[in-house]
Amino acid sequence: MELTSSIPVIQNLVYIFSSILFILGIKMLGKESTAVKGNFLSAIAMLLAVLVTTLSLDINLLTILVAILIGASVGSLIALKVKMTAIPEMVALFNGFGGLASFFIAWSQYSEPNINLFQTVIVMLTVYIGGLTFSGSLIAYGKLAEKIKLGKGSLLTNIFISAFYLSLLMLVFVLIDPVFFNFLDNQPTLFYVFLSFTILAGLGFVLPIGGGDMPVVISLLNSLSGIAAAFAGLLLLNNVLIVAGSLVGASGLILTVIMAKAMNRTIGNILFVGYASSSSTASGKDQGEVKPINTEDAFLILENASSVLIVPGYGMAVAQAQHVVRELGELMEENGTDVKYGIHPVAGRMPGHMNVLLAEANVSYDLLLEPEDINPAMDTYDVAIVIGANDVVNPSATEEPGSPIYGMPIIEVHNAKTVFVLKRSMSSGFAGVQNPLFFKDNTRMLFGDAKESISGVVSEFKD
Ligand code: TAP
Repeated sequence: MELTSSIPVIQNLVYIFSSILFILGIKMLGKESTAVKGNFLSAIAMLLAVLVTTLSLDINLLTILVAILIGASVGSLIALKVKMTAIPEMVALFNGFGGLASFFIAWSQYSEPNINLFQTVIVMLTVYIGGLTFSGSLIAYGKLAEKIKLGKGSLLTNIFISAFYLSLLMLVFVLIDPVFFNFLDNQPTLFYVFLSFTILAGLGFVLPIGGGDMPVVISLLNSLSGIAAAFAGLLLLNNVLIVAGSLVGASGLILTVIMAKAMNRTIGNILFVGYASSSSTASGKDQGEVKPINTEDAFLILENASSVLIVPGYGMAVAQAQHVVRELGELMEENGTDVKYGIHPVAGRMPGHMNVLLAEANVSYDLLLEPEDINPAMDTYDVAIVIGANDVVNPSATEEPGSPIYGMPIIEVHNAKTVFVLKRSMSSGFAGVQNPLFFKDNTRMLFGDAKESISGVVSEFKD
């Protein structure tokens, strides 16, 4: 057999090998202990797939190498410089660029002579999903980074929502056009109008979503970027792109369903009804006075507690307090206290955020409990220590039907005997809703940076 004729065989064998590594990699990402290895395996798989594709194509290798070099340098620089708290924004951007790549691939295929009906349909779907994913992810990035405040109800948002619905109508038209009319063949500019509307569609799709619903929309955009890549794979007849895209699409969709369940919302409700925009609690109803506490008094109560629940949130990530939190947990255990950690599925800013931080600090996985396991026994805990968490412990979610977060399952720390809330001020959390927990009789506010406050309590234990 000649070498040139064996290239497709070698290429497909490498693709199969890469696909197996992708599947193993994703499986390993499911556990903290194997996640780093899983990530590494997937990166190797991608490198192999890119290399074998590049070598088997009749194109200028230098151009490809320069492009890979630029992409790899920018990616490495971003990955090295990004702060742990900014990773969710980075993931949102990466989803967007994945969508944009598929958008360009599909666009380039549209200009190919003699594309058949099936390819035309796939081109239109890929352009639509890719364009929407790109612009939608940019908005998600802006919202997570708190650079975009625009939300439901504003005039601009309403204009973009109209553009989104118009884009859906255009999608239906461009899909049926090659079957019935062939109008696009004579009016190519219409295709460019369609391209612009796919970008506007993403703005109208994500702008009205906000507050506690953001985790769901980010997983959905992740899934859409995978689906667009799988379609692009169909256009290029590239097996590994079809497999990798389908894996991202399917796993993103599963995560979307899990996240929506965690928020006790249907996906349709999140996408097309949105969050409530007002709350009586937020509107300044007199809720009484908060009761501050200092580290010395907090220590005295903790020293005498027989069971303590630690509930971390986004503020623990900001303060990078996970190591002192573990130290405090160990000191309390040495003192005879039963210590557990309550982990809410959407605490922080990315799925598994708290698990990753606590694993980094070597907190045993067995000590982590989920809301449904803790809530029934909450009244048996002497103290619940809330570390930089806000929305995930907000009792409005269960007590106030008008609240934007009403119906979202929470960790019901307000039912513990005493609650310490560690945060720097009275400001609200990601959903922008005031928290009546701070005003409850059994709550004590320990104001300050979480790492400094916990370090203060740790010093008291050591003294
Ligand atoms: P949040 O409700 O966002 O509250 C975090 C709190 O941490 C803030 O109230 C803040 O108050 C405090 N904080 C910030 N820096 C701090 C520091 N250095 N020391 C002490 N406290 C600090 O967090 P949560 O309870 O974890 O809830 C997560 C929210 O994010 C939910 O609404 C969720 O839907 C949303 N979200 C989640 C995800 C995923 S996938 N997890 C993705 C996007 C959005 P101060 O400013 O007063 O200190």
